[in-house]
Amino acid sequence: MHTRNAKLPDAQHIHTLIKNYSHDGTLLPRSLPELYENVRDFVVVEDEGKIIGCGALHMYGPHLTEVRSIAVSPAYKGKGAGRILIDALLAQAEEHDVKCVCLFTRIPDFFALFGFRAATREDMPDKIYKDCVNCPRLHACDEVAMVRGELPKMAVLGASNIQLPIIDVKMIEKQMYKKSVASG
Ligand SMILES: CC(C)(COP(=O)(O)OP(=O)(O)OC[C@H]1O[C@@H](n2cnc3c(N)ncnc32)[C@H](O)[C@@H]1OP(=O)(O)O)[C@@H](O)C(=O)NCCC(=O)NCCS
Repeated sequence: MHTRNAKLPDAQHIHTLIKNYSHDGTLLPRSLPELYENVRDFVVVEDEGKIIGCGALHMYGPHLTEVRSIAVSPAYKGKGAGRILIDALLAQAEEHDVKCVCLFTRIPDFFALFGFRAATREDMPDKIYKDCVNCPRLHACDEVAMVRGELPKMAVLGASNIQLPIIDVKMIEKQMYKKSVASG
């Protein structure tokens, strides 16, 4: 059993794996087109050439990444696939120097094994604006927010009272205009 980065042809298997757990709300459903678009976020677990598990690491920025869509095929649960999957995703987060890894779950005890601790949704405005605002359970969420690492001090999505990095778009446009005039 080993992990590897997912490739485009794996999207169909990932779709099937996630579907096992999305009908009852355990996992957010992911459509096939969305999986094709985001397949590079995914790691898969292979056993004798068969894909038996998947999980994704979604990047918000250097301040935050999210572990998503963790699924091990029902027939392979309890054989260590979940552990090597989370270890692989955390190793990727480290490679990318991301300060905080977050996730939302109903099985916090599983993720506590990997050093995650409970937090609040409000600690991660990016997650709220990416998913929660579109979720029918926005005001009745029964998932535990968890983090590993430093809580984010900034956000990049949506309205937030957390200070955003200031990007002077006008100044960038002016510089681009000057360059294009200079180059004729
Ligand atoms: C959760 C899940 C990924 C675990 O995968 P797995 O391959 O069965 O897990 P492993 O065999 O690698 O177990 C690793 C450790 O986690 C523990 N564990 C497994 N499932 C657990 C659970 N639901 N709650 C708490 N601990 C759990 C195991 O006892 C084991 O502990 P140990 O190493 O101390 O013996 C798998 O059960 C699954 O796909 N569940 C349905 C989808 C889901 O809930 N995804 C997470 C949504 S946030």
